[in-house]
Amino acid sequence: MLYKLITKKILSKLDPEKKQNLILKYIKYINYNPLKLLIKNKLPEKNIVCMGLNFRNILGLAAGLDKNGDYIDVFSSIGFGFIELGTVTPNAQQGAKKPRLFYFPEVCGIINKMGFNNYGIDYLLKNIKKTKNIDSRIGINIGKNQLTPLEKAKEDYLICIKKSYLYVDYITINISSPNTKHLRKLQFGLLFQDLLKEIKILQNSLFALHKKYVPILIKISPDINDDEIMQIADNLVLHNIDGVIATNTTICRNMLKEKKYPESGGLSGIPLRNISTNIIKKLNIELQGKIPIIGAGGISSVESAKEKIQSGASLIQIYSSLIFQGPSIIKHPEIFKILFLIGPAIFGISINQILTMLNTAISSFLSPGSISWMYYADRIVELPMGILGVSIINILLPYLSKSISFNKIKEYSDILCWGLQFLIGCMVEFFID
Ligand SMILES: Cc1cc2nc3c(=O)[nH]c(=O)nc-3n(C[C@H](O)[C@H](O)[C@H](O)COP(=O)(O)O)c2cc1C
Repeated sequence: MLYKLITKKILSKLDPEKKQNLILKYIKYINYNPLKLLIKNKLPEKNIVCMGLNFRNILGLAAGLDKNGDYIDVFSSIGFGFIELGTVTPNAQQGAKKPRLFYFPEVCGIINKMGFNNYGIDYLLKNIKKTKNIDSRIGINIGKNQLTPLEKAKEDYLICIKKSYLYVDYITINISSPNTKHLRKLQFGLLFQDLLKEIKILQNSLFALHKKYVPILIKISPDINDDEIMQIADNLVLHNIDGVIATNTTICRNMLKEKKYPESGGLSGIPLRNISTNIIKKLNIELQGKIPIIGAGGISSVESAKEKIQSGASLIQIYSSLIFQGPSIIKHPEIFKILFLIGPAIFGISINQILTMLNTAISSFLSPGSISWMYYADRIVELPMGILGVSIINILLPYLSKSISFNKIKEYSDILCWGLQFLIGCMVEFFID
């Protein structure tokens, strides 16, 4: 009881961006020790060919979570069919002022106004080049630098295409983020047509030069009317664009009953679900199957994934539900089985519990007078219990998922050391952060 109370307080005090970065670092840490073998996904292949590419499954990681390609191995191990890195810009930039990321668990929504914070395309490409034996398709989502005027935006996209062409499976042109001033204007009229034309010319010349065809996709906003959907679809077909991602985050707040939510920034997660599904449906009618649609927006269950597919999406992407639900997103194994294999120890409660326990334990060391002896005793009991719990979960997971044979488990005897490694890792991370 006491623990839950304190846990809640401390978790709610943590800045979501910091928490998200911390969780990503831990996942990476786990991925680079013997535990990797346990999180490695052994899903039966459900291959699908789309845009001339062979995907091992239809589920992708949406852009924005791995902006700099620091976690490619990790997300591939988890089992995503494709991982969209970025948004990345030609030059590194800090993005918007903090705080710029807000979680609203009560509606399973996120509002972000990150503003393309990233280390630049060169850094991302270095990470991609370092990556070996990846089963997931790697996409790169590109944008314009904040300081680049709209009239010169296309140059930023062309630079990124040229630099990344040889190293990625597909490229997404992001002209739909609500957090870069005027960016969305690139979706309409002459700016749009000119951008598509130039991109296509470059793609064709790179294809001729390298004999490698890299599909180019456009990511669109959910905040467009029927007329705009029609015009966008016509232009995509006219310019032979390879795919369209629908959708990015929304600036609409009408679906939220309360007025407490920030007005600026892009809203994602369940509140976005219907809006993005409607866009996909209308887009599908306009495109008539000529260009594949990748559906994103509020996918948090098999039902919502099916809804996107039935509305016309060939592939799907998730972001927000991964943050909120972690393991519970995988209740229905058909589509989210890949995430089930990684279990609660990665995205879910256990990791948060461990983090929180460490957080509180360290706070108690730093200012012992502020915390009662009862609380302190509580920590002493709970910390090793938490570590033991996570270790047991990780040992049991492979049995539960039947993905790793009984004999193989013996090879993983060093898993017993993992609790200790993790504890040290946690402490190091904490002091660094
Ligand atoms: C914190 C955050 C950052 C995002 N950053 C990007 C981005 O850099 N580029 C992009 O194209 N989409 C970005 N998105 C949008 C997602 O890729 C996705 O299109 C959107 O969140 C809808 O999916 P979801 O409801 O599953 O989250 C971001 C979303 C969130 C929540």
